[in-house]
Amino acid sequence: MSEERTPGGRTPRSETPGAAGFPGGTAGPGATGGPGGKASPRPRFTAPRIIEMKRRGDPIVVVTAYDFPTARFADEAGVEILLVGDSLGTVVLGYESTLPVTVEDIVHHTRAVARARPSALVVADMPFMSYQVSDEQAVLNAGRLVKEGGADAVKLEGGERVAPAVRRMVEAGIPVMGHLGLTPQSVLAFGGYKVQARGEADQERLLRDARLLEQSGCFCLVLEGIPARLGGLVTREIGIPTIGIGAGPQCDGQVLVSHDLLGLFLGHQPKFVRRYAALGEAMRDAFSRYAADVKARRFPSDAESY
Ligand code: KIV
Repeated sequence: MSEERTPGGRTPRSETPGAAGFPGGTAGPGATGGPGGKASPRPRFTAPRIIEMKRRGDPIVVVTAYDFPTARFADEAGVEILLVGDSLGTVVLGYESTLPVTVEDIVHHTRAVARARPSALVVADMPFMSYQVSDEQAVLNAGRLVKEGGADAVKLEGGERVAPAVRRMVEAGIPVMGHLGLTPQSVLAFGGYKVQARGEADQERLLRDARLLEQSGCFCLVLEGIPARLGGLVTREIGIPTIGIGAGPQCDGQVLVSHDLLGLFLGHQPKFVRRYAALGEAMRDAFSRYAADVKARRFPSDAESY
């Protein structure tokens, strides 16, 4: 049985709204069909446990989650890391990029994920401009994601430039996930979402950055949008797990944005996305059948009335 998650922003189990059977706490009887109030029966994943998975050769399963039901369902499905990514901005909040996402946005959504009391490790993304100005600002904002959001770890993008901030966070007791390659917060500098590190010099730099992030104390490293061969090389060269997204099959784990894998995202689908469901189409169909029933006065029936 997993232990209580009372420190930081985590809600003690007995006080969690879900424990009453109403995931949102404010919903009426119609919400009783929600995911329910039981905490995950698996032992909790911690940063050292994730490192240990690489040593055992056990592939690490990561998805993004931004809300309570997604966190609960993904946790029940056996996901080991729930990333409250700043992809929140594009797939949930309707922004064109991740750049407008704020620390408050990530705190708000991390709280919702943490309330699911998953055994998966909850990693909160540090938004654009929450760690670039100074190492002090970086540590304070990372601390907010842990204390106010209830995150178990934070993620930030970049290599050499962020290594001093990573060291400070790790010294403060915050596990840090690195992120190299196609780092979406650099979309303006990259001039678009393009595969990175195709040339030899860039590949050497990325490998150097990966080693530096490991030395700085990162427990894990996301590799995004890089040649598969480089994903494999970095994975062999460092002792911490690599989590690939468009970085080939040799990474120690894989991450996908949940809206992409569920078929819920309306925008461009990169080549690395595999869709496991068509929930967008299922939602459109359900809403239109509901609308037709209301228009035709077929809903509610006597059985659905008090
Ligand atoms: O924000 C995010 O969802 C991410 C993953 C794609 C790694 O950074």
